[in-house]
Amino acid sequence: MIDQRMLPAKLEIVSYDDPLQIARAIREMVVRGAPAIGVAGAYGMALAGLKSSAVTREALLRDLQLAAKALRDSRPTAVNLGWAVDLMLNFATRAQGNIAEVKQQLLNEAHRMADEDVEINRRMAAHGAALIQDGDTIIHHCNTGALATVDWGTALGVIRMAHENGKRVHVLVDETRPRLQGARLTAWELGEYGIPYEIISDNAAGYFLHSGQVQKVLYGADRVAANGDVANKIGSYMLALAAHDNDVPVYSVFPISTVDLSMPNGEDIAIEERSPDEVLNIQVNGEYVAPQGALARNPAFDITPHRLLTGLVTENGVVYPPFSINLPNVVHPPEL
Ligand code: MRU
Repeated sequence: MIDQRMLPAKLEIVSYDDPLQIARAIREMVVRGAPAIGVAGAYGMALAGLKSSAVTREALLRDLQLAAKALRDSRPTAVNLGWAVDLMLNFATRAQGNIAEVKQQLLNEAHRMADEDVEINRRMAAHGAALIQDGDTIIHHCNTGALATVDWGTALGVIRMAHENGKRVHVLVDETRPRLQGARLTAWELGEYGIPYEIISDNAAGYFLHSGQVQKVLYGADRVAANGDVANKIGSYMLALAAHDNDVPVYSVFPISTVDLSMPNGEDIAIEERSPDEVLNIQVNGEYVAPQGALARNPAFDITPHRLLTGLVTENGVVYPPFSINLPNVVHPPEL
């Protein structure tokens, strides 16, 4: 995988051969973005199978369950991780054949999930690109591009598809404190695609929205509740509030695997709290900005209440309010 901590300074590919290394890479954000950590989790499970010395099916399943726990615990908010790990566990439970065959099938299944992710992202991008008008200026939060997925991306995939379809788009890239996924990763990706952009500090978004310079706000999602409440990168909520106050449409773009219908609303979604060091580790002129010993809080995600969202873009189409009726219908389309 690409070590995303090194970008944009260095494009470094790192390799792992152990599920615990994958769990650590997810926790330390070598790989990040909900769909990307889902597929990384699936490969972690495949590695757990390949590394297992089990000679019975029961022992293999025990090894897989241990790896599943470590992978699931590595980051709590994005549902895609637990979803992918559980799919792999269920797959192993149902698989036919001897131990060697089951191990190979697990690896094939991880490859299938990786391929499917790209195909789903392209379908989402096509649905979302139809919403973009020629000449739109779009505020984008965090990084939701090829880096956050296997390829192509969610919200950034929509922008990329609109650009490839010949629409002129301009992106205001939220820098996305504290990990700066926008300033580091989204800016780098947009540069690679030749899409015009400017980085803005997160707290400038309200100014641009109020002064009529923005036509849309786009971001991804890490977990979406049954009523359409969206957990996404910290700062998404403030951005949606400012957009709503200025009648600028807000779309969250995500695959169906990000929907968690077991959550009636966003209130119970676990929000990851990361190390205060991520907030405090800023230096200017070689000196730390905050006083020595300063404390900090670092929630990694927040919840956008569904009332602030204009639409939800999925691979099965764009969902509009009332989300509590229309979202479950897109997750499980009614039989005709
Ligand atoms: O902490 P991160 O960088 O993993 O957070 C990523 C986001 O919040 C993205 O917006 C989300 O995963 C959807 S991107 C495909």
